Amino acid sequence: MKDVIDKYLWFNMLAMDEVIKLYQKDGGFVRVFSKIRFWDAPYSIVERIVPEKGNIVEIGCGEGIFTNYLGITSQKRDILGIEINRKRLGKANRGIRNVKFKYGDATKVKLPRADSIILFHLLHHLLSFSDQEKVIRKCLLALKPGGKLIIVEVDKKFSLKYLFTWLTDHFFVPWVFEGRFYSPIFFRSGKDWLSVLNNLGMKCKARSAEKGMPFTHIIISGVKY
Ligand SMILES: C[S@@+](CC[C@H](N)C(=O)[O-])C[C@H]1O[C@@H](n2cnc3c(N)ncnc32)[C@H](O)[C@@H]1O
Repeated sequence: MKDVIDKYLWFNMLAMDEVIKLYQKDGGFVRVFSKIRFWDAPYSIVERIVPEKGNIVEIGCGEGIFTNYLGITSQKRDILGIEINRKRLGKANRGIRNVKFKYGDATKVKLPRADSIILFHLLHHLLSFSDQEKVIRKCLLALKPGGKLIIVEVDKKFSLKYLFTWLTDHFFVPWVFEGRFYSPIFFRSGKDWLSVLNNLGMKCKARSAEKGMPFTHIIISGVKY
């Protein structure tokens, strides 16, 4: 068993290195950001719960760092990344065979039938709480029966990590990525996310994934029946 785990961890580290290399030819922040994301977000934990094959959609894919990672870790996945920020989207396509990208607004874009949809740090960036519910509803319609919804969110709670996350998302992210000084953000607690999903007809599980990381993260996942 230990051998299998070691092999898996080794494979994942190689994949992570391969993704980081894809972004090293670029000047600017994305070069560093590709490394930061593997440290500050639970990429490898989430990758493990994404189905190994099928049509996978990541909405709000940014520069495609996680999207490309999903493609490199399994050739049997066909992945589509969707992003509203054209500048970020322009940096996403790194020529990985099974990964495609397109422009789209999560609240309006037509989603393909999917085996899994991933919303990795997207929902709190939408423009309202009701937009979050609208996007989740769209995802549930697009998922095939047996398909998996995976949401990674900031866990709203009383802690230093949450304060750091709050400051980063309200001030640092808009300054670096959107050319403005402040952005409204719509965080919810884990309990609140589970109740929203439950009301939309999706039974989900949530787990915290912030050990060793500077921000609060919660991973919520459920299967559509
Ligand atoms: C924090 S980034 C996460 C990027 C990537 N998912 C990751 O985890 O590395 C959130 C992304 O969602 C995008 N976004 C925000 N609102 C969106 C919308 N309405 N439709 C599509 N993408 C959106 C932002 O432009 C940004 O690239």
